[in-house]
Amino acid sequence: MAGVRMADGMSADGRAGAFAAGPAGNFAEMLDVERYGSRSGLFDAIIADSDSHFWDPMDPAYIDYSLPFDQQAGSILPLDVVPELASAVADRLDAGQRIAFANESCRWWLSSVLHGEQGALSLSANLCQALRNPGAIEYAANQAREEARHVTAFTRYIAVRWGEPLPASGTLSRLLAELVSVPEIYKKIVGMQLLVEGLAMGIFATLHAKSHDPLLVRLTQLVMTDEAFHHRAGKLWADDVLPAMTRAEHDAVEDWAAECFQVLMFNMLHPRQKKVIYARFGLDWEWVRDAMKESYTSADRRRELMESTNIFRVLIKTLLKGGVITARTRAIYAAWVDMKDLAAEGDAMVGDPIAAAGLAYLREVNEHRPRRIRKVQD
Ligand SMILES: [Fe+2]
Ligand SMILES: [Fe+2]
Repeated sequence: MAGVRMADGMSADGRAGAFAAGPAGNFAEMLDVERYGSRSGLFDAIIADSDSHFWDPMDPAYIDYSLPFDQQAGSILPLDVVPELASAVADRLDAGQRIAFANESCRWWLSSVLHGEQGALSLSANLCQALRNPGAIEYAANQAREEARHVTAFTRYIAVRWGEPLPASGTLSRLLAELVSVPEIYKKIVGMQLLVEGLAMGIFATLHAKSHDPLLVRLTQLVMTDEAFHHRAGKLWADDVLPAMTRAEHDAVEDWAAECFQVLMFNMLHPRQKKVIYARFGLDWEWVRDAMKESYTSADRRRELMESTNIFRVLIKTLLKGGVITARTRAIYAAWVDMKDLAAEGDAMVGDPIAAAGLAYLREVNEHRPRRIRKVQD
């Protein structure tokens, strides 16, 4: 990647496009009178729609955090989606401990999601400073506002179910910190908008489909309704900027995507990152790693695991359909999903019907919103 000077944010027509970088660290240049008038309309539809999916995690009309869930009696997620429990780990735990293990795993996943939401919030806020185009900045400000409500919403969910979130694992916190601080716009957009957001959509879709907790089902539906719009913005970048890139620039984008993907895979699946949970059950992470490796050698088990790791499908599909993946890096992804199947699929995403149902629900709730606001003010 070294030596590639990225024409950051050039659009397909060769002009400085909607995603052009601003004058780094020089606010005075943002006051350039011509800049104000250069507003791109690329994001207008998404910005105009932002009211249609408004929700407030502090208002029980949208989501009721008092809904109970008895974690002694059952697990929030089915035991068969917890990969450790398909290995010899399950033999070391009694029935009650298996439920507790599944619930702690769920807490770990949701804590990772919360840290990811904070990363998305910080990155969107940072884009407001890093971009030049007024339309793109308005979009980023909108996204920052939505990520802020996701931080509130997941913090509240974790608080009512477990009290505190678990700390971010080393690889996740390093990746998020890098995406927030890296100066190149393409690295931010590919890393966050395409990869982290894509992974989040996959996780939310799984949680929404499988959770036994109605509160988590509602939460993931509402968050996915917002995320569907963020996902669209990532696609706009791929359609607008990628075609104008030189071969070397495209290679740099592709390599960066593959690098972030491998970091995420490592973080999400490597037992070392989850040792905080294992310790609570008297399990050593290296022993868990070996037990999982053993179960992974069977072909059946491998297929099951590939199905359960469908969470990566959304992000791989986004990269593939967006034209980021070529033969150069295809093999990295092919270890996880069937790339031919993926290429043959239409553009519909796994989260689309969930987001559509969320939108319909919010339209209904928001119809009565003016009356509620008046009530709060009275
Ligand atoms: Fe989010
Ligand atoms: Fe997002």
